[in-house]
Amino acid sequence: MNELHLTGIERRFGDDEVIVSKTDTGGRIAYANRIFLRIADLSERDTIGKPHNLIRHPHMPRSIFRLLWDTIGSGREMFAYILNRAAGGDHYWVLAHVTPSFDADGKVLGHHSNRRTADPRVIREIIAPLYKAMLEEERKHTRQKDGMEAGQALLTGMLKDKGLSYDRFIFSL
Ligand SMILES: Cc1cc2nc3c(=O)[nH]c(=O)nc-3n(C[C@H](O)[C@H](O)[C@H](O)COP(=O)(O)O)c2cc1C
Repeated sequence: MNELHLTGIERRFGDDEVIVSKTDTGGRIAYANRIFLRIADLSERDTIGKPHNLIRHPHMPRSIFRLLWDTIGSGREMFAYILNRAAGGDHYWVLAHVTPSFDADGKVLGHHSNRRTADPRVIREIIAPLYKAMLEEERKHTRQKDGMEAGQALLTGMLKDKGLSYDRFIFSL
């Protein structure tokens, strides 16, 4: 199967459903619930032990994942709109909450993510255009690092114009 094959077909899940996965500290999937497997069109065998970029969609800006890893890496939780790619090339949008899991001594054991449905209007009017602009900015650069910084600068500039932190922006949508 070609990893980058895309059908253009959007998958949906119920407002009462939660897509759950847990990873080790490096982002390898240790647990995925039934809803995760159903929407991503994957079996447990395809999923457990694999890096979480298994469902990465090529239209997602790298700089969002960098922000995600920087945030959870510093022990904080993060909410993000994420576009994922199902095994056959369909796509689905989620509003993800990603958090580190700590043991009793505060040591990070791994990470955990719950995803709910994303409001289609927010995706269409705000998130999809923002991510498209970030991706275009990233692609102007040959060096991945430069691209990621440019994508992040675009996001930071937009937040500055609005006078909002990233978290406040997400919760304002
Ligand atoms: C708990 C957790 C959940 C994640 N969920 C997703 C996800 O749903 N989709 C996704 O593309 N990446 C997800 N990631 C981020 C991936 O680990 C990875 O950084 C991302 O897919 C970018 O991959 P790349 O570095 O190969 O471009 C998650 C990471 C963690 C720790």
